[in-house]
Amino acid sequence: MDPRERQSLADRMNQLSWYHTVDLGDGLRTPGAYDHNPYLGAYGLPKDLTGCTALDIGAASGYFTFELEGRGAQVTSTELPQWKAHDFGPQYASEMTDDGAQQYLHDPYAFAHEARGSHARRKMINIYDINPDTVGRFDLVFCGSVLLHLTDPARALMRIQSVTQQVAVIATVVYPLATPEPLARYMGEPGGFTWWYPNRAAFEAMVRSAGFAGWEWFSEFRLDYADGQPGPYHGVIRAWNTPQRPALLDDSDQPPTNLVKEKVTLSAGGAGWLDPYKEKVRGLLGR
Ligand SMILES: C[S@@+](CC[C@H](N)C(=O)[O-])C[C@H]1O[C@@H](n2cnc3c(N)ncnc32)[C@H](O)[C@@H]1O
Repeated sequence: MDPRERQSLADRMNQLSWYHTVDLGDGLRTPGAYDHNPYLGAYGLPKDLTGCTALDIGAASGYFTFELEGRGAQVTSTELPQWKAHDFGPQYASEMTDDGAQQYLHDPYAFAHEARGSHARRKMINIYDINPDTVGRFDLVFCGSVLLHLTDPARALMRIQSVTQQVAVIATVVYPLATPEPLARYMGEPGGFTWWYPNRAAFEAMVRSAGFAGWEWFSEFRLDYADGQPGPYHGVIRAWNTPQRPALLDDSDQPPTNLVKEKVTLSAGGAGWLDPYKEKVRGLLGR
């Protein structure tokens, strides 16, 4: 890249608020709140997606869209049409700046898409409206860190199931409570930006009841922030709609064991470990 062109790209990149750390080439990496690169192996995405179609639900600034595209898939990304279309509680509005939030939702993806010369298509649609008629069906459906923002994650999982031709890779924040009982921690109070953190058993049960033909637990890991602060604890399930476990899922694919950090203990009075998360989001939105 020509040095002046590179500088101009870097300047424009730095004016945006980034959720993801996206490689734009020539050493330019977007300053994301998260850097998913060290965690990529924990998501269990099929290595080779040549000739496959893929849906990236809630793509944010596009890291997983570009990753799936790099593995050979023809990708459709989805995003909410408007920031206000989130399942916010009535008390959340006071924390928003409309312009900053709207820019954060759409502009970084568009910028990275152009800078990378991506061919991914983007559709503005709420996850609850996803079905075979609105988006089609896909060999691979990826849904990362979206369910936690929904009042009704069970219904959203049914929508994911309805558009999955082969495999769905679903990651969400899980409540690190090791019990065989399917329990979820309610997180909606007071603002209503995040709603439910299922424990492992509840996440599994939700996937089963969504109607998938088969499923497997893939990994658990703590997704720390790019600046090293402890982040939310995630679980990943791979589910399928084929009669047999699909060949897309390589048997030798194992999550990197070095990522499973010590579970964060939740304080009795609240979710202290989440405070940095909330602060980050506020920071991204410029408040
Ligand atoms: C925490 S980010 C996760 C981004 C990315 N999927 C990942 O795994 O890194 C949540 C994304 O889900 C989107 N989202 C939130 N509620 C949604 C809904 N009801 N329907 C569709 N997308 C939603 C947000 O706009 C955002 O892009």
